[in-house]
Amino acid sequence: MLSHLFILLTTVVPVYGFSAPNPTRRTAVEIISFAPLSTTLLTGLTVPETKAAIIEAEIPTAATTTATTATTTTISASWKAIDGLNTLEASKFVSFDKGAYDAMVGDKSRTPQFEKSIIKRLNSVIDGPGSQIVLDLGTGPYAYFAIIAAKAGAKKVYAIEASSDACKLAREAVTKAGYDNIITILEGYSTDITLPDNVKADFAIAEIVGSVASEEGVVATINDARLRLVKSPDDPTSWIPRAIQTLGAPASYSLHNLFLPPAFDWTKLEGAPVRFNCRDEGLQLLSDPSVVEDIQFAKMGKSSGSTRSGSRKLTFTVDGKRVEENAKKFNDEYIRGHVPDAATLAITAANSISGIALWPRLILDDDITINSRQYPDGNHQRSHWLTVLPIMSPIPVAVKGDDRITVDFEFEVPASVTTPPSYRITGSVVSV
Ligand SMILES: C[S@@+](CC[C@H](N)C(=O)[O-])C[C@H]1O[C@@H](n2cnc3c(N)ncnc32)[C@H](O)[C@@H]1O
Repeated sequence: MLSHLFILLTTVVPVYGFSAPNPTRRTAVEIISFAPLSTTLLTGLTVPETKAAIIEAEIPTAATTTATTATTTTISASWKAIDGLNTLEASKFVSFDKGAYDAMVGDKSRTPQFEKSIIKRLNSVIDGPGSQIVLDLGTGPYAYFAIIAAKAGAKKVYAIEASSDACKLAREAVTKAGYDNIITILEGYSTDITLPDNVKADFAIAEIVGSVASEEGVVATINDARLRLVKSPDDPTSWIPRAIQTLGAPASYSLHNLFLPPAFDWTKLEGAPVRFNCRDEGLQLLSDPSVVEDIQFAKMGKSSGSTRSGSRKLTFTVDGKRVEENAKKFNDEYIRGHVPDAATLAITAANSISGIALWPRLILDDDITINSRQYPDGNHQRSHWLTVLPIMSPIPVAVKGDDRITVDFEFEVPASVTTPPSYRITGSVVSV
């Protein structure tokens, strides 16, 4: 999930420093290049990961119209939320390999925050932790949060996991930790499972948050749990996290400016977002972010039976100061990669938009939040979550400070946990 590809391009495109690539996962450069490169020069530039398994995706050609005072360029992308890394049930459901699970558990900006919030929640009740039935939705192979809840004194923990491999390991972890009497691991999709004796949980832990917050099926999962598995679904303290968000901001991307047609065809990505490590300086934001998705578990609808769709319109203004700073960072990156005329290309790249970058934020309780990028400015930081960039035009669209980018973010979230959500962003860049 977090792999970085360090590439050295010579006459072909050998890839260095990438250990054990998943065969279903290809790099953006592998997908977009169709002509062998003659001489190239690029060392050390990082090529982020991209989703491989994308259905019905599209990148329309950018159309530019010029008025007397302003130029308007349309941009768009659409994709389905299946992570190309691993899927259960014939590409219907996001799943993870060991490296991805290890990255989650080892994420120091995530796991300790969940631990604190779980312990705090258990100790917040008058009758004490021993009165609480806890549900861990998607417990993973380490049953990590289930064991935290058991250690903190929960009366009973039901931990549900769809992946049978992860379930087997979770059972072993629970036995090893000595909590077989407290924790019951239930295998399957939570939407198919009824808790023994139809009991309901006092609160649920649900770390099924994607890099676009809703992409791992959390809405279908929580909607169902609200109806059947949790005692007081409208109470925010019934949920950890209690809300999840996707933040978004227009972004410039160094390689989109470097790998241009005819040698590289970005439309071959067919809308599949490019996925970046949150510390990757090859992606820079053009403005502060806005909230794109805001999913509050205690306020979700009461019906679980239908697909939800909706849209959110957002306007961003390109921040000239960011553009200047971004040019310096791209210059450093291009120089490291021995790109000729790095300074000129860095200015071009900094004055361009490739798409709307998206990343998640989790509100665990009143006091504890997790940010995968710095909050509120969206600057780089370490996180196991990735920053997702749908490429919204075949070549980057030129922008400058004070230009307006208006987008409509549309989503369709199915009621079934095994039908992936789909997303579409359409909009325009107005250059004044
Ligand atoms: C992001 S991982 C989190 C694993 C673990 N809870 C942690 O935080 O380290 C999400 C896990 O939830 C599982 N999952 C997601 N939705 C589920 C559902 N509705 N029912 C059962 N398992 C689910 C996935 O298979 C995956 O193992």
